[in-house]
Formats: sequence, structure tokens, C-alpha cells
Amino acid sequence: MEKAGILAKDSGRGCSRRALIKGVSNVSIESNMGGATPAASEDRIGEYRFLRMIHPGVNSLIMEVVHESSQRHYAMKQLLASRGEDPSERKAFEFEAKIGRELQHPCLLRVHDFVKDPLQPYFTMDFFPSKHLRLPISAPAKHEMPRTQLHRIITQVATALAYMHDLNWIHRDIKPENIIFNKSGEAKLIDYAFAMHPIGGLSKLFGAKPKRQGTPSYMSPEQIRCLSPTPAADIYSFGITCYEIACGRQPFRANSQNELLKKHIGEKPTPLASFNKDVTPEYADLVMKMIQKKPADRIPDMHEFLSKFSRIRIFKDDAPPPGFQAGLGM
Ligand SMILES: Nc1ncnc2c1ncn2[C@@H]1O[C@H](COP(=O)(O)OP(=O)(O)O)[C@@H](O)[C@H]1O
Ligand SMILES: [Mg+2]
Repeated sequence: MEKAGILAKDSGRGCSRRALIKGVSNVSIESNMGGATPAASEDRIGEYRFLRMIHPGVNSLIMEVVHESSQRHYAMKQLLASRGEDPSERKAFEFEAKIGRELQHPCLLRVHDFVKDPLQPYFTMDFFPSKHLRLPISAPAKHEMPRTQLHRIITQVATALAYMHDLNWIHRDIKPENIIFNKSGEAKLIDYAFAMHPIGGLSKLFGAKPKRQGTPSYMSPEQIRCLSPTPAADIYSFGITCYEIACGRQPFRANSQNELLKKHIGEKPTPLASFNKDVTPEYADLVMKMIQKKPADRIPDMHEFLSKFSRIRIFKDDAPPPGFQAGLGM
């Protein structure tokens, strides 16, 4: 299913501007490990040749391309023409590329080239043949959950997030679709479209902050309320993601977006163990601590997460984690 985007008008919750909220059912069922049919009308984009479509999103396209002179393969993200007509969309896209160039971490994708096309700007980044984590969650029969690699995948994403937070960046769109992994269990945290510095930080460096805010199923109560986000908002979204990875469903389900947002703000999440008895109590406790309503009640930072997580198993029959083997105990 193609991604759905919802242009939500903020109303009555103290938000003064319109927010583009990514769809609740944000599911793209093709992996980027090959097999998709090329769908572009032109096969040349600047210095690059189009090879295949990886992901036709609602704001942009992700394609595999080859740089004609070096013959290197890249992933290219290109703003859709319909979005490129809006100068603020172009500015937000440029901002995303700039963030990608600034961030340098083995578990984040490096952005190389940004081309400021007047209508359809694009940037290239490392091509990482992979699947996103939504696939094994939504279609486990077709895409097996990499259960024995999950500890490593979560650790890599947490390391990338800790790095972003250390540099005073908030990702603001942590969810399974934005975690990609390959067959060896290497993982990357992707998509800096919503990333920003906390208000008062270095946000002035790149001008206006992006107006888009997150994906409802993963949004922290403070994001929903349009309060200034802090890294704790990412910890909440990552907690919802870790919950879903372990039991195949999110803590909250609702018939409408409003109902869902209300549950994030006010409803106590169902204990993780009640959806999967194989999950260890230590993992369940850590995840439940990440999805506390009040930021101050969550684990304080991603370093603390990494330290605790290195010592616990996700599932009861998992092999002991690295920290456990090092004699740190549970
Ligand atoms: N560098 C990359 N290499 C390979 N696949 C990628 C790369 N970047 C993104 N993808 C694929 O494209 C999908 C959408 O990318 P993303 O940047 O999250 O776009 P959007 O802003 O539309 O959500 C990802 O889930 C992933 O499967
Ligand atoms: Mg994405």
C-alpha cells in the first residue's frame, strides 16, 4: 500500500500552524532488495541514470540510480513535482539534505549530492539494499522477522539515535518504516524529513524549522500537543516501535486518528507481556518505561537505554546479550 499523508489543520490545542502528518497506515510492501519494476518516465536525472523505483512516497520518490561517470550506485530521494511547487516544501527538502550531510554515523545514511532543481530538487545517499522493519511486522509470512538479529538491529538504531541526540538533533519520526536492515543484520535509521533541533538550539542555522511533525501511531503526547519536542519524544516513538517489534502490534488501536491521538495522550498502554508471553520481563519493563506519558518519567536518554538493553534479552529463548556475557548480569 502506498503511504498516505494527512494534512491536518491544528485546532484548539495551542498549535498555530498547519502540520503535515504522515499517515497511520504507512505501509510499503516492497523491499528494496531487488525485483521492483522501473516506473520513471525519464531514465536520466542530472548526472545519474535511473535504475529502479524503490519507494514511491507521498512527498518524494526513492530510487536506485547509478552515477554515469563513476558507475557508483546510490539511492536518490527526489521531491515530487506536486510538492516542489510549494517553496516551503522545497526548503524543508533542502533542510533534510543538509541534515543528512551533517550527520555522520555508521548507522545513519550519508547524503552526498544535493541538487537544487527549481521544481524537483533531489539528493543522493548511500544505497543500502535492505528491507524496512514494517515488512516483517505487517507481513510476517512473506518477510520473516529477523528474530536472532533483533537485538543487534535495535542496538544499532539506538546508537544512531544517541548520536543524533548528542548533537542536539531530534529525529521526530522514529517508526519501523524508517529502520532498514539487511540480511547480515546491519541496520540504518533513515528519513530526516522531520528532524530538528530543540527550540532555542541551533535551529537558526538552517532557517525556519520544518512544519511537519510525525506519524500519529508513534507520536509522543507532547508532539500531539504541539509542545516543543525534546529527545524524550524520540524515546517515546522508539519505545512504541520496540513494543511493536516484539509483539507485532502497537499498544493503542483506534477507529479514527483523533481517538488514536487521545489514547496516546491519556490511555494506559496494555502491558507488552499480555500480547507476547515470550518477551522477557526486563525488556517489557524497559519498553513500558519508554512510553510513559510524561517525558520526565521515561528513561532519561538513549545512553541509558543502551546500557540497560545491552544486559537484557528480548525473548526468553534468546541467546544471552553481549552485556550479560560480559558478566554485567541482568
Ligand atoms: N539509502 C537507501 N537505500 C535503500 N533504500 C532506501 C534508502 N533510503 C530509503 N530507502 C527505502 O525507501 C523507503 C522510504 O524512504 P524514506 O526516506 O523514509 O522516505 P519517506 O520520506 O517517503 O518516508 C524506506 O522505507 C526504505 O525502504
Ligand atoms: Mg520514511
